[in-house]
Amino acid sequence: MRLTVIGTGYLGAVHAACLAEIGHEVLGVDVDAARIAALSEGRAPFFEPGFPEVLTRNLASGRLRFSTSSAEAAAFGDVHFLCVGTPQQPGSQAADLTYLDAAVADLAAGLRPGALVVGKSTVPVGTAARLAARVPAEVAWNPEFLREGFAVEDTLRPDRLVVGVTSSSAEAVLREVYAPMLAAGVPWVSTDLATAELVKVAANSFLATKISFINAMAEVCEATGGDVATLAEAIGYDVRIGRQFLRAGIGFGGGCLPKDIRAFRHRAAELGVSLGFLGEVDEINLRRRARAVTLARELVGGSFAGRNVAVLGATFKPDSDDVRDSPALAVASAIRAEGARVTVHDPQGVDNARAAFPGLDYSPGAQKACEGAHVVLHLTEWDEYRELDPEALGEVVAARALVDGRNALDASVWRAAGWTVRALGRR
Ligand code: UDX
Repeated sequence: MRLTVIGTGYLGAVHAACLAEIGHEVLGVDVDAARIAALSEGRAPFFEPGFPEVLTRNLASGRLRFSTSSAEAAAFGDVHFLCVGTPQQPGSQAADLTYLDAAVADLAAGLRPGALVVGKSTVPVGTAARLAARVPAEVAWNPEFLREGFAVEDTLRPDRLVVGVTSSSAEAVLREVYAPMLAAGVPWVSTDLATAELVKVAANSFLATKISFINAMAEVCEATGGDVATLAEAIGYDVRIGRQFLRAGIGFGGGCLPKDIRAFRHRAAELGVSLGFLGEVDEINLRRRARAVTLARELVGGSFAGRNVAVLGATFKPDSDDVRDSPALAVASAIRAEGARVTVHDPQGVDNARAAFPGLDYSPGAQKACEGAHVVLHLTEWDEYRELDPEALGEVVAARALVDGRNALDASVWRAAGWTVRALGRR
């Protein structure tokens, strides 16, 4: 099939390459000429394990190419996937649909008869119906659930495929697009447009709620001397609860969960439905960042003024270079604002972090970042930080004091090397 993918950000670029990987002819389109040039040359515009290989393999096969022309996309595709960003509106909780509306307007003019327009972006419920009224083609919705760091794997082997359609012919087209995955047994959920839109925000809200739930339990553990990691393990053995997404720490960030829960709550309120608990989920999440700052401040004697602070990890999660709404950088900049000199290390995210937070110092090595530090904060759980030698690191710091903001280091090993270790929700 001839498919176009409109928007080659994280979602679109991976989706385009993976559709080519399963045998389709794919044209990826973006208004960003530099991004299109990079992708056309096989250069990934972001760090994502496995993506460069899928990209270059499919460029070489001739099944995948990129363009800045919407007219070319409209003329080329049988099916058009909309993958543009829907960020949070500045000064509001609502989603900003400017890019989506512009992409649809650009495409609509030249659409071929019988083309299908399929939204993948995360949108407020009702968006698909609104677009359907403006597009001279059928509109379907097919939310995407990929995780950064596992984007290729999640796209090629998803947990489920969800499609919102208004006709059986649209469903048949989408079944053909995803035929190899259906043949491999991936569950297929076919529904109406509104439900498909809601599945995405409901899933992300549930995941965010799970994280904030365990982080609220961490607060109770801190007040009582309990241990949240043991608590999470114990409740997680109940299969109705499950063990995943119960890692307590400085909470969730990134380009999806924070803005999605805010936009969902905002949209529900417009519809007369209160999802006030999502506000609480957001607040708990932000409180955990403040708690990490408090623990570090206590370890440096009550004030950051004139102190050196090392921060290990800048991205919102490991195996990504994405620093959007990164809890690690929020903590680092809050400490900087209290007068400390903050040096940040990250294996992949330094360029993006420096662009977003130029006031922080950056170091090319984890150990180098810790030189002279009065406290070290571990804020993104990259594998390489688990390999750090507490003894060797102890030789270069000014004080052996550690905050583990992700509950991912073995505190007993660090304590044995003479470190004072504080973690969230732990004794
Ligand atoms: C998320 C959803 O998982 C994915 O399905 C959706 O398509 C996009 O949003 P992603 O943003 O890539 O994916 O990251 P995810 O792995 O969900 O982690 C989100 C944040 O939660 C990270 O900051 C992570 O550190 C944090 N997290 C995750 C926790 O704090 N504790 C956990 O137990 C799990």
